[in-house]
Amino acid sequence: MSGLLLTGIGHLTTHDGDPIRDAVVAAEEGVIVYAGPSSDGPEQGAKTRLDCEGRAVIPGFVDAHTHLVFAGDRSEEFARRLSGESYAEIAAAGGGILSTVKATRAASEDELFALASQRVWRMIRAGTTTVEVKSGYGLDTATELRLLRVARRLGEELPVTIKTTFLGAHSVPAEFRSDRAAYLDLIIDDMLPAVAGLADYCDVFVEEGVFTVEEARRILKAARRYGLGSRIHADQLTHSGGAQLAAELGAASADHLDHATPDDAAALAEAGVSAVLVPGASYTLRSPQAPGPMLWEAGVTVALATDCNPGTSYFEGMGLVISLAVVQMGLTVEQAIWAATRGAALSLGFDDRGVISPGKRADLVVLDAPHPAHIPYRPTTNLAWATIREGRIVAPPDRRSRPWTDNG
Ligand code: NIG
Ligand code: FE
Repeated sequence: MSGLLLTGIGHLTTHDGDPIRDAVVAAEEGVIVYAGPSSDGPEQGAKTRLDCEGRAVIPGFVDAHTHLVFAGDRSEEFARRLSGESYAEIAAAGGGILSTVKATRAASEDELFALASQRVWRMIRAGTTTVEVKSGYGLDTATELRLLRVARRLGEELPVTIKTTFLGAHSVPAEFRSDRAAYLDLIIDDMLPAVAGLADYCDVFVEEGVFTVEEARRILKAARRYGLGSRIHADQLTHSGGAQLAAELGAASADHLDHATPDDAAALAEAGVSAVLVPGASYTLRSPQAPGPMLWEAGVTVALATDCNPGTSYFEGMGLVISLAVVQMGLTVEQAIWAATRGAALSLGFDDRGVISPGKRADLVVLDAPHPAHIPYRPTTNLAWATIREGRIVAPPDRRSRPWTDNG
């Protein structure tokens, strides 16, 4: 006997056809072998059996944009922003990203790993099974490498898949403020060759006062020569041209997009660039949400992510992200769940997850709810009752919770 058998699923979201009531999912060697009505499914034979007692099951969350390896604390800056200072003003005065850079440079690799792994464990317990992790709080070669090694180690030591992104172009560090051209050269000539084996993607923060479209084009084209795909922080605070550049370069994703226009959406759709939306950052910065429905209607692959970072979105779980996407951004519940699983997986180049069907990975969340609409409807409750990764239960169920077959 081997494998996993989930029985008593009240509502199964497969992303491969309509939801199924009263369903069963079976997996062998981490791969789904059956997902369908319980009447046709296997009844026994698996080593691990879990009776879902009427609960809903969806694919494991894929968090497609995080900056979760960092040290330091910016809660004070959060309070300053609430009393009127803007994110850009704080950054221009040497706070913001650069204050995290200072704390991160001072932290050892083990300290950074300990901090980051706590965050990732909280994500896993909230149903996340795949996470993209960016560097970008080192801004020197040694520290950027340290952050990427920590990110890789998270994927080796914790039950989660990690994709890594080099974000040396997150900000110009203090020591290069009077010579930004030299910092660009450092990124291109020194950092890129050094991080090549540790990063899957390269990202640039394209924004007024941060990096220009021309600078980003140069960096991302150089990164390609080392085999790194492109992701772009695009049109977050202003309409600064990041989405158009992502389309021009055929990037894997354009992220944030709070100020994207219908022309940007058409260009992204045409070029097959995913839109990774991060409603937690817009919420924290009190800025308008990205035009999710408009991007969706234009045919763009929409993904959702926490943007987990100490400045603009200290979000770890996907529950409130989905709730904001539905309540404030205007996606439907089905679209938001798809974007937080399948859309996010596609944006990271994974076709094997975000969908529950034979041959795909058994990365699943059992919700302590009868329907996934409870996620946006009950935004402060962690509804991940059990997290399953590659057919193994990595965050076990809370047995005190009443079966949904009794609840209604
Ligand atoms: O995605 N936009 C740039 N980077 C982060 C913020 C980083 C920070 O403030 O530390 C973001 O919002
Ligand atoms: Fe970000």
